[in-house]
Amino acid sequence: MGKSVIVCTSVAHGNTRKIADALAGVLDADIVSPADADLEGAELVGFGSGIYLGKFHADLLDFIDSLPQQNGRRAFVFATSGLPESRLFRYSSRIVDALESKGFEVVAGFSSRGFDTYGPFKLVGGIRKGRPNAEDLASARAFAEHLQD
Ligand SMILES: Cc1cc2nc3c(=O)[nH]c(=O)nc-3n(C[C@H](O)[C@H](O)[C@H](O)COP(=O)(O)O)c2cc1C
Repeated sequence: MGKSVIVCTSVAHGNTRKIADALAGVLDADIVSPADADLEGAELVGFGSGIYLGKFHADLLDFIDSLPQQNGRRAFVFATSGLPESRLFRYSSRIVDALESKGFEVVAGFSSRGFDTYGPFKLVGGIRKGRPNAEDLASARAFAEHLQD
């Protein structure tokens, strides 16, 4: 497989960075921030962040908006969040739409729970303590192996 790049924004607890590290280990990918990202020569690009007020991080979304047309370059998305995505909380549709409108072929997505101390959860010491845990990282590695097939 050709070169892979992972563009990651992980600002609250470093939760998404842990997932990015697990993915990068399997894919042999470079992990970069949106500010430093250079997709030149990449065959597969991962885009990941925490979920903040229902959205992927604005730096990541702005970066995607700034890109030229991609001619079907393969992409995947990943996130960590306190609450899982559901019909009520749809996190990924906006970023997937943005990527597709730039001509990426979005091939897969991965999400994990992450330690969350936002808002009311702070009062109870946070939720999902210790996440992502070893099992979450193993799931991330399995996801990355699946991407290689
Ligand atoms: C400002 C803020 C807003 C958040 N909003 C949500 C949210 O809408 N839904 C959710 O499930 N988690 C929310 N969270 C929890 C984060 O998604 C979770 O902690 C995530 O793992 C953070 O990733 P990071 O450590 O890589 O930044 C929020 C956290 C912060 C700090």
